[in-house]
Amino acid sequence: MSRRKILVTSALPYANGDIHLGHLLEYIQTDMWVRFQKSRGHECHYVCADDAHGTAIMLRAEQEGITPEELIARVNEAHQADFAKFGVHFDNYSSTNSDENRHFSGEIYRRLRDAGHIATRDIEQMYDPEKGLFLADRFIKGTCPKCHTPDQYGDNCEACGTTYTPAELINPVSAISGATPELRTSTHYFFKLPDFKEFLQEWLQSGTVQPQIANKLQEWFENGLKEWDISRDAPYFGFEIPDAPNKFFYVWVDAPIGYVTSFKQLADREGLDFDSYWGPNADAELYHFIGKDIVYFHALFWPSMLKGANMRLPTGINCHGFVTVNGAKMSKSRGTFIKADTYAQFLEPEYLRYYFAAKLNSRVEDLDLNLEDFVTRVNSDVVGKVVNIASRCAGFIKKAGGRLSSTVTEPELLQRFIDAGDDIAAAFEAREFNQGVRQIMALADDANTYIADKAPWALAKQEGKEQEVLDICSTGINLFRQLMTYLYPILPAMATKAQAFLQVDSLSWDSRLQPLIDHAIAPFKPLAQRVDPKAIEQMLDASKEVLAEEQQIRNGGQDAKAETAAAAMEPIADEITIDDFFKVDLRIARIANAGYVEGSKKLLQLTLDLGGETRNVFSGIRGHYEPEQLIGRLTVMVANLAPRKMRFGVSEGMVLATGNDDGLYLLSPDCGAQPGQRVS
Ligand code: MSP
Ligand code: ZN
Repeated sequence: MSRRKILVTSALPYANGDIHLGHLLEYIQTDMWVRFQKSRGHECHYVCADDAHGTAIMLRAEQEGITPEELIARVNEAHQADFAKFGVHFDNYSSTNSDENRHFSGEIYRRLRDAGHIATRDIEQMYDPEKGLFLADRFIKGTCPKCHTPDQYGDNCEACGTTYTPAELINPVSAISGATPELRTSTHYFFKLPDFKEFLQEWLQSGTVQPQIANKLQEWFENGLKEWDISRDAPYFGFEIPDAPNKFFYVWVDAPIGYVTSFKQLADREGLDFDSYWGPNADAELYHFIGKDIVYFHALFWPSMLKGANMRLPTGINCHGFVTVNGAKMSKSRGTFIKADTYAQFLEPEYLRYYFAAKLNSRVEDLDLNLEDFVTRVNSDVVGKVVNIASRCAGFIKKAGGRLSSTVTEPELLQRFIDAGDDIAAAFEAREFNQGVRQIMALADDANTYIADKAPWALAKQEGKEQEVLDICSTGINLFRQLMTYLYPILPAMATKAQAFLQVDSLSWDSRLQPLIDHAIAPFKPLAQRVDPKAIEQMLDASKEVLAEEQQIRNGGQDAKAETAAAAMEPIADEITIDDFFKVDLRIARIANAGYVEGSKKLLQLTLDLGGETRNVFSGIRGHYEPEQLIGRLTVMVANLAPRKMRFGVSEGMVLATGNDDGLYLLSPDCGAQPGQRVS
């Protein structure tokens, strides 16, 4: 087998939020694949960086009263610490806010410009006169022009689903300052994506993307490729565009260039030939691991940029789905929005790696972390099956002097384990980790069956059976060693402990071909602890606390996709008199019934009991609450809101709640309040 040169990347995490379990699916998947390639003897490099630019980071720093540079330095350290806890090993970890990245961004831009792929034109955009800032759609809020629901974001209405432009909102306000935005004109720079249509269509047939992604891209082609706005006006935390004073690269321009930069730093440090990785005639393979939300950037913009700048193209774009916890989107209110650090305080990081591996395939499917299943699987597979083999055999070998037998007494059984390595390798190579794990666990079952059938503990009680006991247990240890070789990419820390126990120089894939005979092993130390289900509860509680604290400090939520304006505190509305207030008739209501609304992903239908009278209300809380959770509970409603005709029926009032994209909290009165009572 010839030695491949492989460069691998994961998406660059935004530098304004902590790493959570959703992110970890990506970094763990990539790390497992990289460790596997290295174990196979290939020259494989894994690089990443923080994605440090953009408005969200600028605003967050401002809110904390620090500079963006201070913020991104702090977050970079925290990210690297979190990755290390989970055994995610980068050969280089950088930041997009580096001199080298400024250099490459400028260089690639100039090449695109000189080849005629950049256009400029004036566009109109909402502007916050108080902040002196152009506002992206998500930084504008207002009343829906269609159904008149207040407090909707600048691009679509959560209540009726209409999409519109921010200019169409009624009473639009800047979510940052509360000021009324105005339309202003400014010159923007565009990357002429349509220039690359034929190239992209051909390139995407080359098997670079998964079939599901190819289908999605086909849809995009049919809708027509549009020029991509790559500039932002000052103030913007990023790189100024060459020869364009006060115009900055949109964060998504210099972000993927961070892949190039991070590798360049590694190449300089280790003396690697940069051009053979990124030059037009590169002979290395290049893989980008990404999540399904950023396909457009990686499968359309990025290859076009590379092509236009006369650089190499990716060999593969490996896209994964999203993590759900207990069957639902990670939720702050349920405590399932779990940060990497919170998890690591309560549970063994490697067990998450094992669980992800056991469920991961090569398709773009969401992966559910079912916490009950997690406990069962880890305890039965890792502890019950794999570690058990070593712990059952180790004691007898120690008693016999700590040396394995000088012959292989079950050559066929051992050979079967060795041969299985080819199939397992094929599964890992294809990113079908679940298939690989299934085969490894089937072997673990066979090893346990072999030991149970031979029952060395029974033989050990008989006279003159010492050699037989040693032979059986030596076979057991050899089988265990095969399994640890296969598990190393998934469980590197446990494998390293096993390596010390086995006293072998390496657990590389090929080293397994030599059986361990007449070989001294070290005394056995426990390799893994069972998961205590109580730790799961504690982790969920702690997650709620961590997020509540953060919310208090920052007066707003940090979103899973850190792009929203949620971090900015909502401005207090204009002053009103007590009479104005009393115009709003707030009542205690009992949720007598709750159900789904066919055809709506956002709404639940509530029947509210006002102590004699009932109301039908449609509320945009689906996804945050299950109907069963709500039935019987008390809440507060606006009882004199004019009835509103919606697509699904008439809504006769509104329940009160607070929240953002990731959590929603229905208001409820202290106990003792009665349905129908006025709230004042
Ligand atoms: N900064 C961009 C990527 C730039 S790459 C040149 C970004 N950052 S992110 O922090 O939001 O996400 C980083 C990676 O984590 C992305 O690939 C994203 O898809 C992935 N995930 C973020 N949340 C996720 C889940 N809940 N589940 C699985 N992956 C998720 O996007
Ligand atoms: Zn609406």
